[in-house]
Amino acid sequence: MEKIQYHIKKRTHKIELPKELGFGKLFTDHFFEMDYSPEKGWHNPIIKHLENLSVHPGSMFIHYGQAIFEGLKAFKTEDGKAIIFRPKAHIRRLNNSAKRICIPLVDEEFLLHALTELVAIESDWIPTNPGESLYIRPVIYGMDPFLGVKPSSNYKLFILLSPVGAYYSEGFKPIKILIQDDYVRAVKKGLGECKTPANYAASLLATKEAKEKGFTQVLWLDGIEQKYLEEVGTMNIFVEFKDEIATPELTGSILPGITRRSVIKILKEKGLNVTERLITIDEVVEAYKNGTLVSLFGTGTAAVISPVGWLTYKGTEMILNNGKASKLAQELFDELSSLHTLSIEDKYDWIVQVQNEEVEV
Ligand code: COI
Repeated sequence: MEKIQYHIKKRTHKIELPKELGFGKLFTDHFFEMDYSPEKGWHNPIIKHLENLSVHPGSMFIHYGQAIFEGLKAFKTEDGKAIIFRPKAHIRRLNNSAKRICIPLVDEEFLLHALTELVAIESDWIPTNPGESLYIRPVIYGMDPFLGVKPSSNYKLFILLSPVGAYYSEGFKPIKILIQDDYVRAVKKGLGECKTPANYAASLLATKEAKEKGFTQVLWLDGIEQKYLEEVGTMNIFVEFKDEIATPELTGSILPGITRRSVIKILKEKGLNVTERLITIDEVVEAYKNGTLVSLFGTGTAAVISPVGWLTYKGTEMILNNGKASKLAQELFDELSSLHTLSIEDKYDWIVQVQNEEVEV
């Protein structure tokens, strides 16, 4: 791979972040870009001042959705070092998504280098209040101007950075979820496990309707029988039964969440009975009725751990753990937050440190 070019403007102002960051509203000064052509492969890697992309109206991703993305986070440790949480796993998943919709793979080591360089340059943008982080959004899209349906030949990859707070306005407070059976998000052997914009487009109407009724999010059931739990639009789901913590198994229609994987590992390490299996909505309702359902919580990069306080299915509301976060959800949130700031040991080797001195801004 070629060396990254740096077209960086020296920062003359002190970065002042707003008190309420919200999610994805604010962007840092610089971003990373590179191009792909069949002749040169991935080339022209550059970190430069954030600017609009120039896109031909015929670009294939606009017409046929050939695009993928990732979402990962950088944090500041207690002693001020910048770190990224599980970047290798995210880059691997980006390549898995790429395979599914015929996008050329990226060199994983090089992308990790690009990511850490960009975060190093923008490390002053990493917020340090609890629950805040620098969200990293790599994207690849097909850019040939062509109206026939086929994979594009040329691509753009960029990495955008956004200082963020909690994804849901509730923060870590329990959210209200509607179990959706009027629409489906994805089906087995379709695109569900691929992090592609189409899955999010598929969720918009159902989520809008749920929000109008006062819900925060929708929990999807499987696309064939509408019987098994799948995922929430922006996170994976865990069900705490009395003697088991279960999460839907990866059947192909569910996003293989990195936080999901981290939580499974942490729970196993604690010696708890965690299972990946098919979970029917009927057994959740039954467990609620007979008192063996403790609670539900979601996991995701943006959401981290999000307790579910209220769950509605076919017009009947289930109030979980009196609308409060369960002890387990709180413990997991605390453990992940402590890992993010390295205030506990990274025994799983999930953290990649950013070398602040690599590039001078
Ligand atoms: C993430 O958790 O990083 C996501 O990609 C979910 C969402 C913000 C689209």
